[in-house]
Amino acid sequence: MNERRKLIFKTLGLTPVWRLRAGIPDAPAPEVITGNDSPVADVSTQAAFSAEYSEAAIRRMNWEQLAETVKNCTACPLRKTCTQTVFGVGDKNADWLYIGEGPGAREDELGEPFVGQAGKLLDNMLAAIHLRRGDNVYITNIVKCRPPNNRNPSDSEARQCEPYLARQIALIKPKLIIALGKVAAQNLLNSDDSIASLRGRVHQYSGIPLIVTYHPAYLLRALHEKAKAWKDLCRACELMDTL
Ligand code: URA
Repeated sequence: MNERRKLIFKTLGLTPVWRLRAGIPDAPAPEVITGNDSPVADVSTQAAFSAEYSEAAIRRMNWEQLAETVKNCTACPLRKTCTQTVFGVGDKNADWLYIGEGPGAREDELGEPFVGQAGKLLDNMLAAIHLRRGDNVYITNIVKCRPPNNRNPSDSEARQCEPYLARQIALIKPKLIIALGKVAAQNLLNSDDSIASLRGRVHQYSGIPLIVTYHPAYLLRALHEKAKAWKDLCRACELMDTL
């Protein structure tokens, strides 16, 4: 049993795991699988089963179980190089959900998203539309562990982390999602399109309206794009008024 699955079962209070012996239709008794179980099916079948099963378990988690599972996750290599996981911050019943890319150095140190220079700009962007971190706003990232040297998360790292974000979104039930930057937008929309083509229209994520804008870290380097980001925020406010 892999570490993530073991942890999920433990968090949900579902250990020991009982499973019918594979290929024995009339098996007299179910097999008890402990943490050191030997494989009952071939390795790839078991891996596929594990991934599917853990995603199903994540979809049933409450907020505390999810936070604990993320904290202990070792599903991708990012956990080996980061200091701590960064789950998210804010109002768990927020109407506004802001999603960035992944923690940077300061976030990795403090365990909270958007607390560095880009975070200061994000706070100012929120203030400009009369919002405040933690007050009807939740902030999180595509990946919960800092990618080394602030590189973009790989597709596989983002995919491993996706069930956690999907569950956060399902629990928060925001009215509107704001994707901050290309990495967030492309992952949430499962698209390779450029940020230029994704901005300026309303998308959907699982039935929730989603607006794409520039990442605050990019805006710190490209001041001339701030006007476009302001337009995105105004569009988001107009949309929110209708939701
Ligand atoms: N950039 C992000 O995308 N997320 C953070 O939390 C910080 C910087």
